[in-house]
Amino acid sequence: MDVNQIEWLVDYLNNFSGAAMVVSHDYDFLDRITNCIINVAFGKITKYRGNFKKAMRQRKEREEFQQKQYEKQQVEIEKAERFIRKNKAGSKSTMAKSREKKLAHMDKIDPPSTNISASFNFPYEDTGSHEALTVDKLSVGYNKPLLAPVTFTISMGEKVGFSGFNGVGKSTLIKTILKKLPAKGGTAKFSPSAIINYFSQDLAWDNNRMTPMQIIADKYPKLTQRTIRTKLAKCGLDAQNAIKPIHELSGGEQTKVKLAMMEFVPSNFLIMDEPTNHLDEETKEALKRAIDRFPGNVIIVSHENSFYDGLVDKVLNVEKLSLRERAKNETL
Ligand SMILES: Nc1ncnc2c1ncn2[C@@H]1O[C@H](COP(=O)(O)OP(=O)(O)OP(=O)(O)O)[C@@H](O)[C@H]1O
Ligand SMILES: [Mg+2]
Repeated sequence: MDVNQIEWLVDYLNNFSGAAMVVSHDYDFLDRITNCIINVAFGKITKYRGNFKKAMRQRKEREEFQQKQYEKQQVEIEKAERFIRKNKAGSKSTMAKSREKKLAHMDKIDPPSTNISASFNFPYEDTGSHEALTVDKLSVGYNKPLLAPVTFTISMGEKVGFSGFNGVGKSTLIKTILKKLPAKGGTAKFSPSAIINYFSQDLAWDNNRMTPMQIIADKYPKLTQRTIRTKLAKCGLDAQNAIKPIHELSGGEQTKVKLAMMEFVPSNFLIMDEPTNHLDEETKEALKRAIDRFPGNVIIVSHENSFYDGLVDKVLNVEKLSLRERAKNETL
């Protein structure tokens, strides 16, 4: 959803007298609408009352407590195991056996399970020219133009965000710049040394039944299985998901596969159309850090304003270029 729709939904939910159950990765949004949080993490469901920030604090305390209990028990277990090993055959063997029994029946405390954390790194290939992209009176659309002709330049190393409501034409503008769609007029020219790495908005795969391992091996035949597996793990995809058909993966997991694939392409211009859509908060942060570290150019679209904070040099408001008349009652 775009920013206006989110505002509308916040208002709607806050005025709604019934109960509502909402699933979202958008923490700002959750903070504004919730009074109870159900945290689902690896087979456990925990309910927290109070606002979102308080619930997150409680969750953290709970995890820290469990970590301590877990560590304490691990020390106990190790001690018992040492004793058993040493005394199993000797004069204290009865004692060792009884300890062994006790150990087998012990209620084992699990460590607090945490998300396997992702870290991204988009390899950079040097570029020589000052003007990275020059867009001149570019007109985009399908049957008729969607936007007023667009003119802008992006200099070397500049990072730009595109904003605007759903359907305004952000993806169309990007695809036209990339020449995946024909321009209705005007031009878009990358510098001759520009090497582009593109993340498309849709989660579409040529063959849904292929696994992430197969998809990547197919696209980059020179890579070893080990390299692919390591890369997927680094991007937060665990070993089981790496060998499942891609259509069985969640939106966030599929996004991680797409991001992992981008990491095999050295480039100096990242173009990312809504990469944050399915990602959880931690993964979004990891992605933001990687984009921030990337020394080349970036064009990015995200409906979460906070993602742009401290990341982009400027934002192009595509809404202002829109030729579409919005209906008066069109609040969504
Ligand atoms: N292949 C197509 N043929 C005809 N119209 C299309 C096509 N693809 C998109 N459109 C229309 O063009 C308009 C712009 O779509 P686009 O995907 O560029 O919007 P967007 O700004 O990226 O939206 P979102 O925030 O939802 O991703 C929409 O009204 C859409 O319905
Ligand atoms: Mg789009």
